[in-house]
Amino acid sequence: MDPYAADWLNLLIRWVHLIVGIAWIGSSFYFVWLDNSLLPPARRADVDEGVGGELWAVHGGGFYHVQKFRVAPAELPSPLHWFKWEAYATWTSGFALLAVQYYANARTYMIDPAVADLAPWQAVAISVGLIVAGWIFYDQLCKRAGFGRERLVAAAIVAFVAVAAWGLSQLFAGRAMFLQIGAMLGTMMAANVLFVIIPSQRQLVRAKERGEAPDPVHGLRGKQRSVHNNYFTLPVLFVMISPHYPMTFGHPRAWLVLVAILLLAAYVRHFFNLRHRGHTVWAIPATAALGTLALAAAIAPSRPDAASAPGFERVQAIVAQRCASCHAERPTQPGFDVAPKGLMLDTPERIVAAAQRIHEQTVATRAMPIGNLTAMTDAERRALGAWVAAGAPR
Ligand code: HEC
Repeated sequence: MDPYAADWLNLLIRWVHLIVGIAWIGSSFYFVWLDNSLLPPARRADVDEGVGGELWAVHGGGFYHVQKFRVAPAELPSPLHWFKWEAYATWTSGFALLAVQYYANARTYMIDPAVADLAPWQAVAISVGLIVAGWIFYDQLCKRAGFGRERLVAAAIVAFVAVAAWGLSQLFAGRAMFLQIGAMLGTMMAANVLFVIIPSQRQLVRAKERGEAPDPVHGLRGKQRSVHNNYFTLPVLFVMISPHYPMTFGHPRAWLVLVAILLLAAYVRHFFNLRHRGHTVWAIPATAALGTLALAAAIAPSRPDAASAPGFERVQAIVAQRCASCHAERPTQPGFDVAPKGLMLDTPERIVAAAQRIHEQTVATRAMPIGNLTAMTDAERRALGAWVAAGAPR
């Protein structure tokens, strides 16, 4: 596809993905908060009608009174609002974005020949295969474990994600590995809605229509998956912004960094879930903050030695050879029609001005050259690092 048209397509899909994702995760936060905040109904009559909990709220200039039935109301109300398009639209736009950005440019964004010299079709097949396999594993896990063993289920999910991240780190560039795990978790969330939560709700509605008492197991099944989805939200959101932060995916043990951040994120979600139920455990955010600091310190890159700094001509030669095919006023790299992120490294002034960013992307992390398409060597990275450490002289 024409790179300019591809950029527009990317922008529009990403925008839609963000909007529907906000709607979905917003409603997930709202309903879990609501469930955790319900109080027993104040009026006897409501209890007799089957109301299990209620909540009063004020928002946008009005008072709201929400009631949750223990199983279902005596009469099926109409219209009855369902929450599903948010989830389906988020998944669909997310998969489209994955295809437009990663699958269509697998050589740039997914494959790092220093990690594994895959063909683009192999990278795409691995990605799609793992998205499907992840769902099958998780779904079977929940079905077999039943309802009373949530800690076991959580431990198995963490172990699965860790193994998948490690395995992918042997196959993909760090950035694609992160995104792949996010796509896998996001798919579990959307599939939970499509294959479990909505069908269990349909069962409840059908039983009501037949005038039978609905089997509460359907409610439990939907609830379990909806709680899992809630714990997935913060981890998945981290993955979606991670491409901006090469210090995370660019680390040599990026898979461990990813697992640590996902755990911290789910733990923070746990804090909110407890808090909505009336237990505020400040030790959780305190631990998460300390954990984040410890992680940041542990993965901090070492500073290169300024003493071995090369002259500026060498720096210029390296940048011209390894960077300027993309980062120039007129990129010559196929697939790029404008300099990525507007960063041009085609004059001495521009190179000096970007010294810190060059250091961050090529030395501190190995995020650039992207996919190492221009085959930059370690010696060249050290040379650029030493030059920046020496104050980026001209
Ligand atoms: C094959 C094309 C290509 C090459 C070669 C390349 N880059 Fe990039 N660069 C990109 C792309 C694509 C992005 C945007 C990444 C993204 O989507 O976050 C980028 C982004 C950047 C950024 C900005 C990151 C940010 O988020 O602000 C810096 C800095 C950078 N590159 C430096 C370099 C340096 C230094 C080199 C040479 C060692 C280099 N790049 C080589 C394609 C390339």
